[in-house]
Amino acid sequence: MPFAVKDLPFAKDALQGISEKTIETHHDKLYPGYVNKRNEIDAALPNADRSKAAQTYSEYRALKLEETFNADGQILHELYFSHLGGRSGRPSGALADQINRDFGSFDAFVEDLSACGLAARGWATVALDPSDGKLHTFLCDVHNQGGVWGTIPVMTLDVYEHAYFMDYGSARADYIKAFFQNVNWDKVAQNFERAQQMAKIAGSASMA
Ligand SMILES: [Fe+2]
Repeated sequence: MPFAVKDLPFAKDALQGISEKTIETHHDKLYPGYVNKRNEIDAALPNADRSKAAQTYSEYRALKLEETFNADGQILHELYFSHLGGRSGRPSGALADQINRDFGSFDAFVEDLSACGLAARGWATVALDPSDGKLHTFLCDVHNQGGVWGTIPVMTLDVYEHAYFMDYGSARADYIKAFFQNVNWDKVAQNFERAQQMAKIAGSASMA
C-alpha cells in the first residue's frame, strides 16, 4: 500500500507570520516529493540486484540510502504540519509538567529549542527517550541524520531555508519566534501521550 500525502490540519492562510505562499510551497510541492519518492523507491527495491550490492556504488545502496532520506523527510514534515495552526498558547497538564522537569521551565525549553533551530541545518526535534524517560532536543542537519534510535518524536521545527526564506530572508530567529506563535499545544500533548505509551512498551523490551 503506497504512502499517501496527508492534508493540512489548518487553512493555508491561518498562520501568524508564516505566509500562505510559504505553506503552499512547503506542503503542496516539497512535502509530496518525499512521499512520492519513498513510494517510488519501495516499488524499485524488490527488483534491485542484491548480488551487486557494494558500498562504493550499487543500485541497492543508492535505493537504501535515499529510502531513509525520503522516509525521514516524509515523517518529519507530517509531524511539523500536524502541530501548526495553534494560537500563541502554552502547554498544560502532563506535557507542561514534563517540560518543567526536563528543561527547568517553559521559557528555558523555548530557549533551548530555538537555539537548536538556529544551530541546525535541517531540523530541531523534541523527542521522548524511553531509556531515561526524558524529553530531549535533537539537532538534524538533514532528514536522515541526527535522529536517535528508539526515541519518539513529539514535536519538530523545520529550519531548512524553504520553511522561512520567502517570509524572513535570512532572519531565521524571527521565523522561529513565529513558529512558536503557531504551535498547537493540544496536538503536541497528544503526541507526548502517545510517546509515553510507546515508551512503556520500549522499556519492557530493553536489555535491563
Ligand atoms: Fe521542510
